[in-house]
Amino acid sequence: MDGFKPYITGDGSVGLYSDEFDDIYHSGYGALSEAYEKFVFPVETNKNCLNVLDVCFGLGYNSKAFLNYYGKNKKINFDCLDINKNLFFLSPFIKTNHTLKDYFRKNNNDSKYVKLGKYKRYKIDNWVNHLLIKNLYQKFGDDFYDKNFLLKDKFRPFFDPAIINFDKFYKDCGYKTTKKQIKLAYLHNIYYRYLSKRYKYLFSDNIKFNFYIDDARKTIKTLDREYDVIFLDAFTTNKCPQLWSLDFIKELYRLTAPDGVLLTYSNSVLVRNTMIESGYFAGKIINEDNKQIGTVCSKSESKIKHHLNDYEIGLLKTRAGIPYRDENLSQTSSVIIHNRELEVENSNLISSSRYIKSKGVLK
Ligand SMILES: C[S@@+](CC[C@H](N)C(=O)[O-])C[C@H]1O[C@@H](n2cnc3c(N)ncnc32)[C@H](O)[C@@H]1O
Repeated sequence: MDGFKPYITGDGSVGLYSDEFDDIYHSGYGALSEAYEKFVFPVETNKNCLNVLDVCFGLGYNSKAFLNYYGKNKKINFDCLDINKNLFFLSPFIKTNHTLKDYFRKNNNDSKYVKLGKYKRYKIDNWVNHLLIKNLYQKFGDDFYDKNFLLKDKFRPFFDPAIINFDKFYKDCGYKTTKKQIKLAYLHNIYYRYLSKRYKYLFSDNIKFNFYIDDARKTIKTLDREYDVIFLDAFTTNKCPQLWSLDFIKELYRLTAPDGVLLTYSNSVLVRNTMIESGYFAGKIINEDNKQIGTVCSKSESKIKHHLNDYEIGLLKTRAGIPYRDENLSQTSSVIIHNRELEVENSNLISSSRYIKSKGVLK
């Protein structure tokens, strides 16, 4: 986990902090809770066959939670984009078990890593991780199996021993010395012999993961499916403006099915206005505590359950709503930020603070 600092989020699942971006990968409130509440529950689909685009796969919480929730009865294709290959490789081994928090409490150990949040009982079943291992192996072969990070003592509490043992089980069966094709057949046999009764859906070929390791701005140009569900889980706007620019969001719009949805954790005025300028309808994601926890976008207005009110729509048309621009999807983040600052300075739009003052305080 070079360059990442693992910690325990509020629901017991593991979160990461990135040195490079100086930003967290997951909400301290709960990495897994966030995945379910922002990226899974708002989807509400009856379709049997889904295409999912996971922009910023990271540890894969969003796709894994989605698969855990919908995967037993549906055919799902996941296209997963991230610039960092190590995160794909870590993904199936990360512990998402809620008892981890109890472990730290009991051991009175490393409590600085534990952020207390609202306790939730969300989970990722092991079959999801097994399936991910199978797909990662099919894509990356031995490269995937060269995972010495699993053996480092300091990371042990963050990995799931059951999944690591499953992984070791493959190895111990001796396939390591054989050729890739034979290994794949061997894995297939193991699945059938030892697991198929309990995990039938592992073998149905109903679930497919495709992994794209590159700047999402490059990958996006090569994609041409229509997606029913898009997760946009980039770092915050000022840390990663390249994945929030009007030009990038227009590409996501191009790839959205007519009744598809794009989901993001961001509530920001800038993001919502960018979505609307790209052509989407945008609405709020509201959780069970009636809190606004993200934004849902669609080409179809009927997919928006919680509409923005007049006050919120007015706020989008202030300077705060001016989008980032990245015409050729190739600028550095500092250039993108600088160009937006110039545009804001020269804009005739009212500032958000004046707008808020004129309307009274936002409830
Ligand atoms: C907030 S984290 C995503 C967390 C993730 N959804 C999860 O479940 O763990 C943001 C991710 O964006 C990735 N990223 C940063 N810049 C990127 C880029 N230009 N293209 C693709 N991925 C990028 C990082 O590697 C990181 O995994």
